Amino acid sequence: MAESKSNELMEKIVSLCKRKGFIFQSSEIYGGINGFWDYGPLGAELKKNIRDQWWNDMIRQRDDVVGIESSIIMHPKVWEASGHVGGFTDPMVDCKESKQRFRADQIFFAAVIVDGQTVGYVSALESERIAEELQEKAETLKRKRAIQGKLEPVQPKDFTEATDEQVPLVPSPATGEPGSLTPPRGFNMMLETNVGALRDASSVAYLRPETAQGMFVDFKAIVDTGRVKIPFGIAQIGKSFRNEITPRNFTFRSREFEQMEMEYFISDEDDWQKWHRYWIDWCRNWLLGVGIPASLLSEHDHPKEKLAFYSKGTTDIMFQFPFGVQELWGVAARGDYDLSQHAKFSGVPLVYFDEAAKRRYVPHVIEPAVGIDRIALAILCSAYCEDQAPDDKGKLESRVVLKLHPRIAPIKVGVFPLLKNKPELVKKAQAVRDLLRPYMTVFYDEAGAIGRRYRRQDEAGTPFCVTIDFDTLGEKPEFLDTVTLRERDTMQQSRVRIDELVQLLSPKIR
Ligand code: GAP
Repeated sequence: MAESKSNELMEKIVSLCKRKGFIFQSSEIYGGINGFWDYGPLGAELKKNIRDQWWNDMIRQRDDVVGIESSIIMHPKVWEASGHVGGFTDPMVDCKESKQRFRADQIFFAAVIVDGQTVGYVSALESERIAEELQEKAETLKRKRAIQGKLEPVQPKDFTEATDEQVPLVPSPATGEPGSLTPPRGFNMMLETNVGALRDASSVAYLRPETAQGMFVDFKAIVDTGRVKIPFGIAQIGKSFRNEITPRNFTFRSREFEQMEMEYFISDEDDWQKWHRYWIDWCRNWLLGVGIPASLLSEHDHPKEKLAFYSKGTTDIMFQFPFGVQELWGVAARGDYDLSQHAKFSGVPLVYFDEAAKRRYVPHVIEPAVGIDRIALAILCSAYCEDQAPDDKGKLESRVVLKLHPRIAPIKVGVFPLLKNKPELVKKAQAVRDLLRPYMTVFYDEAGAIGRRYRRQDEAGTPFCVTIDFDTLGEKPEFLDTVTLRERDTMQQSRVRIDELVQLLSPKIR
């Protein structure tokens, strides 16, 4: 029940995104391409606002972080040094019957045990209620086979934990029958291309799977500019590419996505835990600042046994998506692994010289890494609301509203003449539009009843609407050159002087 409600909510969000021009399937007229998305006019503005806000807060407002833009395709050795060529794999499983492909850690299975005897296996794809689903399937299996006795509670495991004996006995989630799943095998997620005129092994290059390596590879060049002193960070925003086995949950797991990453270099003698905590708190506060409610955020510390050998600790900031609590922003303490690896593979020492202490060392790093598409999705999911609003005749009707933070909203103000067939109203409304445009994104709309125009802006998440009516033109002289300003969330309207609009709205959208 709870799951079907979440699916319903997700379907509504996906449909709103398409209807309003936030997000479309890429190459839709050709049937789409799985794991790739296009952002329409509203989505592109939303992403730009997220990007600008992060760049401003992370780089421009700080003395200790500089921004770069490194290339997407880098020397192939970069990815050998970083460990991506050898180890950037996900465990993949094929269903030989249905020809579907799964990530092994997303297939869950359990032995069906009756009176201490294993009588079969059940499986299902990862979901919020995986244990209940497997238990229900176990009960069905027992009933269908008319097995008498006491069914034990199921113990779900993911398919990477299946033994060689269990693999052929676990039903495929695609067919419900055992015998068609292959054992899990490593699948490298880097997308390959060729650079130059020859297409052979020597021309293979990769589309970067993360932006982070650009910061490590450029470390020396940036230290040599003399602008930075430890502790300092190097940050960038850019596209990354991963050949995900099962892209899913709308834009959550895509094959092309955009990251905002920062590498914060600290002394090898510094307290890494202090900096790790500092950056977790910074990221969390940043999310609150773009309107994500604290109630939907949580933290997950990666268990020690699942960390890479070089990693000192990783904490993910998690978000309650309609499809479950999932990673939004990872903050990793990576020690000196990356700089040491690049020094080893390139032969160029990547060290920092501390002038005061007259000491040379390889800095350690704390890395907050997040995907813009994931933040945009979290923002859209937390902003989606349905409530009641009066129509033009005062009758209550249901309304869909995106309660986006004004700072992030794609359009800040809708400007409407009350009637489109009154040239004097239209002229005045266009003058108001032109007055506001240098300071904020404005959408001018004269089509349809005023209530419908408000409703369209509510769905786009526009926090303010301004209507030019006959009072603006001086029908009531005391209201000459004033407009109605309507607030999206409260739907309250107030009368405001046109020459005060910029001053009034500017601080609210910043
Ligand atoms: N440099 C570290 C790194 O890339 P990651 O946890 O693999 O770490 C960081 O990725 C962030 O990038 C994630 O927390 C997520 O927000 C985003 N991300 C990763 N894979 C993604 C995908 N396939 N689609 C969308 N966003 C993704």
